[in-house]
Amino acid sequence: MQTLIQRTAEALAQTNTAVALTGAGISIESGIPPFRGPGGLWEKLDPMEVAHIDAFRRNPEKVWNLLLKGMQDFLDAAQPNAGHAGLAQLERWGFLRAVITQNIDGLHQAAGSRDVIEFHGTFAWQRCQDCEGRIETPRVDLSRIPPRCSCGGIYRPDCVFFGEMIPPEHLERSQQLVTRCDVLLVVGTSATVHPAAMIPLLAKETGALVVEINPEPTPLTGRVSDYLIEGGSGAVFDELLTRVEKLRPSDTSLMAPR
Ligand code: APR
Repeated sequence: MQTLIQRTAEALAQTNTAVALTGAGISIESGIPPFRGPGGLWEKLDPMEVAHIDAFRRNPEKVWNLLLKGMQDFLDAAQPNAGHAGLAQLERWGFLRAVITQNIDGLHQAAGSRDVIEFHGTFAWQRCQDCEGRIETPRVDLSRIPPRCSCGGIYRPDCVFFGEMIPPEHLERSQQLVTRCDVLLVVGTSATVHPAAMIPLLAKETGALVVEINPEPTPLTGRVSDYLIEGGSGAVFDELLTRVEKLRPSDTSLMAPR
């Protein structure tokens, strides 16, 4: 593992176009459960019953009670971890261009990342199904389920449910970034949900080094990614940042202009 982390540090230290694609795994160490695998939400709940737009339209009360209220509790309590902090630092150092995240938890921004594409939207805002009015989640009155807008419409999180399209501006910008990146870090995703799972392939096809950071292999491993650093993202980023720091030119004016 150390050799692969060193190899990744060397690749990062030579670029200013790196991009990261992250999934639920990077937030597990912040106390937010994943969707799949041990302790995953979809082990207890059927995603087609609680996370598909048709299910929400059919029975918003059920979706709020079974999924969304509980999700708010996790998100309220969560703080960024070393994985989030590591990506924010790589951006500040000028090696990483942006984070494309499938997560709706806002932890990348809370860790200081500036350029974050929320590919699946966010839980930080709720949107009225009728008037499209948006409100910050903490201001939503949850004493009544489903919560309602002043127009009488039902609030739903401003995230992408199954059965809904990825916002075109997110798709377009993500494609632009990964077709121009030298290094793609794929962190904490099972790479099973499309179109996000296509992003590593796009990066590979346009010549990037694709590095997975995950305790488990995924469908990308040995097929699309160049290698897998098998470990939890917190510990891996601690080690990675230590090594990148050693490789940083002391005089940053020597670094390639953005
Ligand atoms: N550090 C890094 N990765 C980890 C860690 C850890 N400490 N622990 C587990 N993982 C990995 C798992 O091995 C798994 O590959 O995180 C991944 C989590 O996978 P999923 O739960 O499937 O999450 P994700 O890939 O983000 O799901 C994609 O599916 O349900 C939808 O919209 C939802 O955005 C989500 C999408």
